[in-house]
Amino acid sequence: MENTGQADTKKRSIRSFVKRSGRLTTGQQEALEQLWPRYGIEFDATKKLDFVTIFAGLESIKLEIGFGNGDSLVQMAHNDPGSGYLGIEVHEPGVGHCLIKAEQTGVENLRIMSRDALDILEYMIPDATLDAVFLFFPDPWHKKKHHKRRIVNRLFRDEMARVLKPGGVLHMATDWQDYAEHMAENMLADERFTNLGDENGFSPKPDYRPQTKFERRGLKFGHGVWDLMFRLSSSQ
Ligand SMILES: C[S@@+](CC[C@H](N)C(=O)[O-])C[C@H]1O[C@@H](n2cnc3c(N)ncnc32)[C@H](O)[C@@H]1O
Repeated sequence: MENTGQADTKKRSIRSFVKRSGRLTTGQQEALEQLWPRYGIEFDATKKLDFVTIFAGLESIKLEIGFGNGDSLVQMAHNDPGSGYLGIEVHEPGVGHCLIKAEQTGVENLRIMSRDALDILEYMIPDATLDAVFLFFPDPWHKKKHHKRRIVNRLFRDEMARVLKPGGVLHMATDWQDYAEHMAENMLADERFTNLGDENGFSPKPDYRPQTKFERRGLKFGHGVWDLMFRLSSSQ
């Protein structure tokens, strides 16, 4: 699963993740070897993804960025067989876990990529092709000196405005109030998007979003949970 791509990509000096060490279980290692060819898509900076071929017959395409162990991604794909789901995650054990779950559940409408989502967005996702983008419990980078690592920023919003179809929805969730407010502030100030929530930018959790692993962890620590949903205006 070497994802070097075939062209130079920008060297990003600030990334929204640090590669966590974490040993692969034997099952995850086997999944990466045996199931990656079935579900995985390699990074290639010279090629845009052709969703018509990848998800033949499925008109609605949904992307999850940073799916963690993939449990909630697989569940969403299973519950929504009419949509094609693309998941992106850099943490290898999470990718292995997701592959195992995908096979156990028998989902056909799921593909996985393993690389910085910002590279994939920039080089491989064509304009106006996504019906929804999910960003659930992104790394909060709660120390002030790390705020620059937060994935939700101007560049991310520009990419969302480019890859979503007009009317497509960016759905984010976090258990850090400070990050929720940062997300809301960013999105409310962006005239390309319409807030689907209350005046503060927060929405009730929609039924299709499963509880995620990190959400459960946050709840154990007594954190709240904030969902934010913003629709790309039709006049892009
Ligand atoms: C806090 S975890 C949340 C995982 C999952 N969404 C959940 O709620 O359980 C954030 C995940 O995003 C991944 N991640 C962060 N930045 C990323 C990026 N730029 N591209 C791909 N994955 C990223 C991390 O590896 C990590 O697994």
